[in-house]
Amino acid sequence: MQRFIRQLPKAELHLHIEGSFQPELMFAIAQRNNIKIKYTSIEEVKEAYKFDCLQDFLDIYYAGAGVLITEADFYDLTWAYLESCAKENVRHTEIMFDPQTHTDRGIAFETVISGISKACKAAEKKFGITSFLIMSYLRHLSEEKAFKTLEESLPFKHLIKAVGLDSSERGNPPSKFKNVFEASIKEGYVPVAHAGEEGPAAYIWEALNILHVRRIDHGNNCFEDDLIEEIVKRDIALTICPLSNKALKVVDDLKSHPVKKMIERGLKVTINSDDPAYFGGQINQNYIELQEALDLSKEELFELAKNSFQYSFLDELTKEKYISEVVSFYSKN
Ligand code: ADE
Ligand code: ZN
Repeated sequence: MQRFIRQLPKAELHLHIEGSFQPELMFAIAQRNNIKIKYTSIEEVKEAYKFDCLQDFLDIYYAGAGVLITEADFYDLTWAYLESCAKENVRHTEIMFDPQTHTDRGIAFETVISGISKACKAAEKKFGITSFLIMSYLRHLSEEKAFKTLEESLPFKHLIKAVGLDSSERGNPPSKFKNVFEASIKEGYVPVAHAGEEGPAAYIWEALNILHVRRIDHGNNCFEDDLIEEIVKRDIALTICPLSNKALKVVDDLKSHPVKKMIERGLKVTINSDDPAYFGGQINQNYIELQEALDLSKEELFELAKNSFQYSFLDELTKEKYISEVVSFYSKN
């Protein structure tokens, strides 16, 4: 089963590049930028990565991202993630980045996007991995600040596929960002949003009806009959992140993860790593631990991998090409 998962061609649709920042690289970049970090060893870092809720994690995640200063830092961060994709048979990835985490510290938008997008281009050349970027607005900040970020992104519009909404969910409903999403859609960005991770079903309704999202990130709290019906009707996928849900106590353990129930109700689900450096595993580890906990069959894993391409923002022809690879792999394994 593990071999099957590792070799299965797949796409990752929910990944924060700042959350892929492995401690070893964080130490190296801190050192070259002459920045002191709180921890003296990798063991100490790992000890600190124990969370009770989303906010617990976010505090540490934003602190970690604070050592990223130059274009080369953003390049190295992204390159390290894309190298891991090559090893994990991730053929396509849609990477979220949080510009405000950096621009608020005085780093130019251009520095961030240039480093990230150059690494993506290099990975396509070296590994054949395709990628899109999702610019995510931080929901704990104001809509006015999100508008400023939208403005800053415009010279780089050709490098960005979608806009997202992340950070502290409770108390920051999607409706807070109605206007900036409307403006973002007018600029040609595809809308997605985190909803129903810690927040209620009402936030998922808002993401659908007010932000007009084309995917829901997480969506764990979708269990209301009419909401499920609506998501199914719109043919929208949930980007599920099992190890993140376990680490942030969205679920008690993976055995009680609702993913199987979601599938039974007709929802389209994909498996993703969210912030792999913080939650104990890359995408394959997410598939492996979920398979073990819920006794998923090869057929179910095959469906999940197919969904990952089907609900990507790739054009139909490229989707078909990738899906035929998944079908061919499944028929031989
Ligand atoms: N930013 C990075 N990871 C996140 C998550 N799981 N939820 C909300 N914001 C995030
Ligand atoms: Zn996320």
